[in-house]
Amino acid sequence: MNILLTGGAGYIGSHACVVLLEAGHDVIVVDDFSNSSPEALVRIEGIAGKPFAHYRVHLADRPALRAVFEAHPVDAVMHFAGFKAVGESVEKPLLYYWNNVTGTTVLLETMADFGVRNIVFSSSATVYGDTDRVPTDELCPAAPTNPYGRSKWMIELMLQDLFRSDPSWHMAILRYFNPVGAHESGLIGEDPNGIPNNLVPYIAQVAVGKREWLRVFGNDYPTRDGTGIRDYIHVMDLVEGHLAALDKLAAGPGFDVYNLGTGKGTSVLEMVAAFESASARKIPYRILPRRPGDVAVSTADPTRAQRELHWQARRDIHDMSRDTWRWQMQNPDGYGRNG
Ligand code: WQD
Repeated sequence: MNILLTGGAGYIGSHACVVLLEAGHDVIVVDDFSNSSPEALVRIEGIAGKPFAHYRVHLADRPALRAVFEAHPVDAVMHFAGFKAVGESVEKPLLYYWNNVTGTTVLLETMADFGVRNIVFSSSATVYGDTDRVPTDELCPAAPTNPYGRSKWMIELMLQDLFRSDPSWHMAILRYFNPVGAHESGLIGEDPNGIPNNLVPYIAQVAVGKREWLRVFGNDYPTRDGTGIRDYIHVMDLVEGHLAALDKLAAGPGFDVYNLGTGKGTSVLEMVAAFESASARKIPYRILPRRPGDVAVSTADPTRAQRELHWQARRDIHDMSRDTWRWQMQNPDGYGRNG
């Protein structure tokens, strides 16, 4: 199939690009590189051994996006493009609504104009907000608590309304829990801008000597060791779930929502221990007060994806730590300044 990847140079998108090319699909990447590097595209081609089309395009640039659809047949879209930093979204809500929601609106209109009605959307467990329904299933009501999560929820509602207006669409909404890890080659991985917001990239930068110590945001949660528990899922398991969702789209029209998680919880200190074991490096840390907005526990109930997509995460915390460390060690500055 001809698959258009928005945000295909980003962390999840680049890994999806590799597995799609390796599965024999033809890929077209559109990315504005506002939060990614063109170097990732070079690495992807090196891994997959297959060239693919790519364009520097912001989704809100309708003429430029239309030109891509005019230049290439598109059978389906995997929509990864979007800003994703919770803290930044609180400071700059309009930027997040413009970039994430308006960009998606133009994408969907352009898809409809070209008769493309197959979409896999990259959503987030952040739409659930601070739920006490843990493990969390897809029937849990959405209650996002920040502009980033609300932008994802707004897009899900847009897709729902679009499907109701035209049930010929094939839609799969994938709600990610906590993606971590990297491709086994160590050539592509997570390359956060500036100080990492998320735990695992921060730990990796401590291990490689870029940061002195890890801030542990609270050890007074009602959990087995007092630190926050999350459902970390290997990025390769995550993108394999996207391939499974693509197969489901082929089965016929529909609007389906799936949690992509392992169903297992890992605490901050357990992740630190796993990373120390995988990297043979000490990760010094200090306990700080809780981070505003954090919940004690967030884990997925992934049974619907297991049942309907015949997909299950199979990599564990050691795999995630080992693969993250390989990427970080081989790329201490990520894709680099010029990347
Ligand atoms: C995990 C745990 C922190 C950093 C976020 C987004 C979510 C999704 C994934 C896009 C928590 C603790 C963290 C640090 C720490 N992104 N922590 N020190 O907050 O569960 O989810 O990323 O969809 O939208 O909200 O992930 O990695 O930031 O935090 O102690 O330096 O690690 O308190 O318990 P989170 P995280």
